[in-house]
Amino acid sequence: MDALETRRSIRKYKPDIPSDDEIREVVRAATHAPSACNLQVAEFIYVSDPEIMQQLAKVATGKVTWAPACLIGIYDSRFVRERSAHLQSLSAAVENMLLKATEIGLGTCWMAGFVGDDKIRRVLSIPAHFEIACIVLIGYPDEEPPRPYKSPVEQILHFNKYERQRPHLNLSIDPKHWAPEEVAEYRRRIFSVYNKRAELGILSDTQFDRLWREIETLLTPVMPREGHICEVHAWDLRPVERLVQALPAGVGRVTVADSIEENLRVAKELFPDCATAAIGPDYTFDLDDDSIDLALLINKLEFDPRPGPLLEKLAPKIKKGGKVLVAALGRGSLYHRLIGLRFALVRIRDVYEHNPFYKIGPFSFVRERELGDLLTHHGLRPIEVRSCDVGLYREETQAPRRGRFFGIMKFFVELVPVKSKECILILAEKS
Ligand SMILES: Cc1cc2nc3c(=O)[nH]c(=O)nc-3n(C[C@H](O)[C@H](O)[C@H](O)COP(=O)(O)O)c2cc1C
Repeated sequence: MDALETRRSIRKYKPDIPSDDEIREVVRAATHAPSACNLQVAEFIYVSDPEIMQQLAKVATGKVTWAPACLIGIYDSRFVRERSAHLQSLSAAVENMLLKATEIGLGTCWMAGFVGDDKIRRVLSIPAHFEIACIVLIGYPDEEPPRPYKSPVEQILHFNKYERQRPHLNLSIDPKHWAPEEVAEYRRRIFSVYNKRAELGILSDTQFDRLWREIETLLTPVMPREGHICEVHAWDLRPVERLVQALPAGVGRVTVADSIEENLRVAKELFPDCATAAIGPDYTFDLDDDSIDLALLINKLEFDPRPGPLLEKLAPKIKKGGKVLVAALGRGSLYHRLIGLRFALVRIRDVYEHNPFYKIGPFSFVRERELGDLLTHHGLRPIEVRSCDVGLYREETQAPRRGRFFGIMKFFVELVPVKSKECILILAEKS
């Protein structure tokens, strides 16, 4: 029971390599697992040779370098295919291994997020009739991650017949098709994987730096030195980090507002001087009325299913003459077109698979005019509008290993130097 509760996915390891005997013990646990027809189609390749680890990092995923060693889970795909029984058998074996590893003080991370099966096959001499199912990182843990969000048993257990007990996960990429509680549920589950790793922003650190420089030029003249700043939908905590750095100690206060409890808990942990405020499913803000001098919505509105009701509830919390700064990905930008083309050419099945923004959920690009009108409608008069080339287009296409589509795009991007105004910035004033 102990290992069941204490096992965590470990993404930071000490450099020491587990001994062969420890690995034998772990894999012995796999042999105790049930398997379809007892055919025992699952096998494991233990890789601890640093050179082979490097090759795997190159052809499969850079995540391999988090650990000093890994186990590659493969199964003979010719048998017991019905209901993916071969995969079910392998999965039972893997879970046994994870629990045993935890029990003997090793950390693991089960991974299906990798590419290059044929290359992995070549590197590890895996025969063609084996499917590669997973890579399990293994080593001595160098972190103690908190327990991520797990659904309560009442929500996943049905007696005698199926009864819906928790919000569905929607398939659509368009936020308009999502109820706010569905978005909250998606984020509640996925946030705990990425939140701590500060990987939730849609922009890389370099791109965010570019955006923040532009934001600073807009904010400097209006930044309330002694006022109350509220970061709304604070899943990407970088704006909070910058605000905290920008405000002299003891001057002004920052509130982090979000609809996910877990997210607020992480914010509180990382920024103990900031207040937190819950945003309810109907966008009620747990804040005093008329207390905000500056509200920030940095790449948030395009991910919200109901930007209108959000602004309707937020506006009364802003002082007269107070400001709102909105940054959003613009419709019509080259980046928007590139993503549109990608959606058309690559099979994007749902809000998660192959979606560049899967870590945040559904999204839609915004039109500058519509955004301006929306703000105006809620008594927030735009006083300055800008756009900013944050480098999304260029860097998406130049990122290594993004698949054939991005390879082709990269070729064209290198031929034609492009500037794209990807982010719209609107500073508005409460009238
Ligand atoms: C089939 C499967 C695939 C996974 N793939 C990845 C992955 O590619 N990268 C990663 O960092 N974690 C991966 N994980 C780990 C999950 O993110 C992790 O189990 C989840 O966030 C819950 O955290 P916990 O394992 O600490 O309970 C995978 C887990 C499973 C079961």
